[in-house]
Amino acid sequence: MRLDELRERLKEIPQADARRLQELKTELLGRRAGALTEILKTLPTLDAETRKQVGGAANALKRELERAIDEREQALARGKAARTGQGIDLTMPGRPVWRGGLHIVTQVVSEICDIFRELGFTRAVGPEAETERNNFFALNFPPDHPALDAQDSFYLGGDALLRTHTSPVQIRTLEHYPPPVRVVIPGACYRRDPFDASHSPVFEQIEGLAVDDGLTFVDLKATLATFARRFFSPDTAVRFRPSYFPFTEPSAEMDVRCQLCAGAGCPACKQTGWMEILGSGMVHPAVLENCGVDAERYTGFAWGMGPQRIAMVRHGIPDIRLFFESDMRFLERFSGIDSR
Ligand code: DAH
Repeated sequence: MRLDELRERLKEIPQADARRLQELKTELLGRRAGALTEILKTLPTLDAETRKQVGGAANALKRELERAIDEREQALARGKAARTGQGIDLTMPGRPVWRGGLHIVTQVVSEICDIFRELGFTRAVGPEAETERNNFFALNFPPDHPALDAQDSFYLGGDALLRTHTSPVQIRTLEHYPPPVRVVIPGACYRRDPFDASHSPVFEQIEGLAVDDGLTFVDLKATLATFARRFFSPDTAVRFRPSYFPFTEPSAEMDVRCQLCAGAGCPACKQTGWMEILGSGMVHPAVLENCGVDAERYTGFAWGMGPQRIAMVRHGIPDIRLFFESDMRFLERFSGIDSR
């Protein structure tokens, strides 16, 4: 083999596996029959000048071949160590894998809507930007009601505003779908409130509406009490207190037994043993008529509740701002994920 042919063989070395490398070592550098040895053996037959040239080049190539084989041997050894786990500390903690989780408020909204779905209610939505007519007047608010004041609501210009409650979706629903109607409507609402432990200028509500032949206050009480028992616990006590809303008559607020003190009295329930979770009532006939529904024939009941407040009542969360701050310690407590 000539020297330049032998130099070509250098290229095979970095690709060789362990077995092939051994073969190459013998074939190229072997003391007895290696290609290089064969070349060196011919040196004595050459004249002095050529011998010097060939001898120098052959020794230089020998060193190159040796270095390439050496490097390849080391690389193969490193790969083997990695595959067999040598040199790796198996007691080191793994890297956390981050998974997304549902926000606690999203979970509570789904859970509430699921319970009402079992009771025959469909989930519906409406826009967050509303007209004064849908947000107030069609719901029987008098023109001088304080909620219409720019101090209390976010007006967008003209008679458009950010809805102050989900009740305008009652109007949209009744105008589009003839009774019988049963819907639950979750969504964001906006009021010019301070951002403190119990208020936020943006908050969630879930509206409920049922309109049909012959619905009475008994249906309202049974539906909402069933919800409370399914959501909290089967023995949860509820009570209804008379209240007032322009769009219902009669109106009532529903309380559940305080989930923290079980009725004994604590700071969370202001020592009353009860926690208010929703407003409700029989749909005012004027609201039905405003939507073109025959109030002589149909009756309905409606309610509105705050899933954030309900989550706070259930889990003993002391401050509504925790829902907005994206503190991972808070979110992970409820999201069912553990990143450590
Ligand atoms: N819209 C009311 C509020 O934001 C809540 C409410 C009360 C809704 C009674 C209703 C209802 O549908 O019947 O305070």
